Amino acid sequence: MNTRVKVCKLGDIAPGEMKPVDVAGLKPIALFNLDGTHYATSNICTHNIAMLTDGYFEGEVVECPLHGGSFDIKTGEPLSFPCEIALQTYPVIVEGDEIYIEAE
Ligand code: FES
Repeated sequence: MNTRVKVCKLGDIAPGEMKPVDVAGLKPIALFNLDGTHYATSNICTHNIAMLTDGYFEGEVVECPLHGGSFDIKTGEPLSFPCEIALQTYPVIVEGDEIYIEAE
């Protein structure tokens, strides 16, 4: 069963920004605002242990701060070496001025 969890307010993350969010029972999550549309992925790089929100976010791509691998924030797919395993992604729902993540 999916659970909807409130993670922050719309005003807490501007277009072009990313933000780490914690949801009880889940691994850390990275929330992205891509031109007003929000996406969420695991915040932990699948190559090693690094927080993606400590890296760089440009266009639809997040780049890991540790070895420079990158992922598509919409699909979680790895885009560049040394990342080969996709990030888990989570549906994001905006209701009013609140942002929710659907967690399993
Ligand atoms: Fe992210 Fe190596 S830990 S690319």
